[in-house]
Amino acid sequence: MRRNLMTAFAQAQPNIALVKYWGKRDTTLNLPAAGSLSITLDALWTRTRITFDASLENDSLELNGRQDTRTLPKVSACLDILRQLAGVTCKAQVQTRNNFPTAAGLASSASGFAALVMAASTALNISPDRRFLSTVARQGSGSAARSLYGGFVLMHTGMQDDGSDAFAEPLLEANQWPLEVVVAITTHEQKSVGSGAGMERSRQTSPFHSSWISSVDADLAEATQAINMRDFEALADISEHSCLKMHADMLASRPPLMYWTAATVACIALIRDLRERDGLGVFFTVDAGPQVKAVCLPQDAAQIAAALATVPGVIDVVRSGLGEGASILAPEKAQ
Ligand code: DP6
Repeated sequence: MRRNLMTAFAQAQPNIALVKYWGKRDTTLNLPAAGSLSITLDALWTRTRITFDASLENDSLELNGRQDTRTLPKVSACLDILRQLAGVTCKAQVQTRNNFPTAAGLASSASGFAALVMAASTALNISPDRRFLSTVARQGSGSAARSLYGGFVLMHTGMQDDGSDAFAEPLLEANQWPLEVVVAITTHEQKSVGSGAGMERSRQTSPFHSSWISSVDADLAEATQAINMRDFEALADISEHSCLKMHADMLASRPPLMYWTAATVACIALIRDLRERDGLGVFFTVDAGPQVKAVCLPQDAAQIAAALATVPGVIDVVRSGLGEGASILAPEKAQ
């Protein structure tokens, strides 16, 4: 008897938030307490192959060649939404790999869930719009909603209790303002407190949390204006402000969330010098990990990468342009 297999391959790239997401209004549907704004990268990727197979008893997830039972419940929850839409009940085998360190502040969950929903909806032969797919990816990881799109992306807070309006949308294509990103990698280790647990801790214990959340709308407006005007200095100013404000909220949590290392601080100081002393077009941003991302003008990227590589504690430097949103891959690419 012929087995009924439904399979597809997809790729998605991580994104880096310039106006940060740090706080939820609902943990069940993973609804953000405020919007956010990001850029999608092109040099780093997650590639995911999914096969729905009626003979499987359970969903399974393999990440970089190892079974990942920790992330599996969230994967199954996203798949359940798409299975229901397709009228299919069979389980799936998910095989995924990243070309960059997992869970070290490089947003592997963002590209992971974006690639997952892209592959799954194609395998199930349903074609919901990207906006809907971004709400499904959001339930796996908030930042994943943004990786459905390329270039500059805005994530909406949404007002609805069912989360249907908490989706991402594109602001500008990657080639409309082709900035670059230099990532200074300071560790390959997994972070101690994940983003989801960290932001809940901040919500419950940080005295700064509610003012942080209520400041985000104004930051989004300022960043959107800077992007529309291609005003690099204005974008640098608001992005660094959003990043440092988020880390202030993290530091004020109890117990504190301290994601930075000495190398993180040294990279930040260097980037500020490169901009203020040497006149380079560059600003920093840091997420829930010790890596530093330098967002820069393309003509300055080589000099910035060389400078960051000399910082004690920096073990690798990765350069990336801005990339496209999640896409379906030809089968041979995902092997
Ligand atoms: C610091 O999207 O990883 O990178 O929704 O709980 O999965 P969950 O959180 P996640 O948080 C990202 C936090 C951040 C800032 C950002 O990307 O906006």
